[in-house]
Amino acid sequence: MESFRKKLNKSNIPEHIAIIMDGNGRWAAKHGKARVLGHENGVESVRSVVEGAGEIGVKHLTLYAFSTENWDRPKEEVDALMSLLVHAIEAETESLMKNNVRLSVIGNVDAMPVNVSDKLNGCIEQLNQNTGLNLVLALSYSGQWEIVEAVKHMVNDAIEKKILPENINDKLFKTYLSTTNIPDPELLIRTSGEYRVSNFLLWQIAYSELYFTDKLWPDFRKDDLFEAIFDYQNRERRFGKTSEQLMS
Ligand code: FPP
Repeated sequence: MESFRKKLNKSNIPEHIAIIMDGNGRWAAKHGKARVLGHENGVESVRSVVEGAGEIGVKHLTLYAFSTENWDRPKEEVDALMSLLVHAIEAETESLMKNNVRLSVIGNVDAMPVNVSDKLNGCIEQLNQNTGLNLVLALSYSGQWEIVEAVKHMVNDAIEKKILPENINDKLFKTYLSTTNIPDPELLIRTSGEYRVSNFLLWQIAYSELYFTDKLWPDFRKDDLFEAIFDYQNRERRFGKTSEQLMS
């Protein structure tokens, strides 16, 4: 039963929602299963949330699917996550197409195994004419990595005199980030009761509303997304101003 969808103010749906999908391992332990089964069940949550976001008109949904730090997990878990990704892409491309979803990736895709990056690129190409939800997968991604990459490109451009150091400001910096073409997320959700941002979208979340839930990712469904958006809609976003200034 979807109880929160009806409560949403349709004229105040965030354009961009970012999610730290956490708790797959704990979900598996709770159910006496291997960790990989937690990830497998997490794919069902991804499906539900992508569907829900599309239904209410969210424009961009960024999912933290694999962090730079996740490479340090046991090899069998990394391998299992990579093959899960390939299988999920194979299984879901058709329904993403039907739902008019586009796909993009942020992160160090060059670090991914070739079969994974090939699959991703094929799927991105197949969906690139779609005009609905933009599903952004953060893969081999970390916010610090992204900022360092941006700085490297910027310094190169300065050396080549394409930009002048005195013209560097936050707007110019944003053009060097992988999210340059999309607005910063209004809402960041993290599941599993952890209160951290874990190196996710560090630049972009400067003014995001943060929403934490105890639900483990494999238990999270579209109505939980609607609940988070409902909570967001009842907050006052001041961007450093006072309440009075916002009302005038
Ligand atoms: C965090 O749980 C989750 C991950 C590191 C991977 C998330 C991947 C998926 C949900 C599946 C593939 C995704 C797509 C987009 C098809 P954890 O393992 O850190 O959980 P724990 O903190 O309880 O151990």
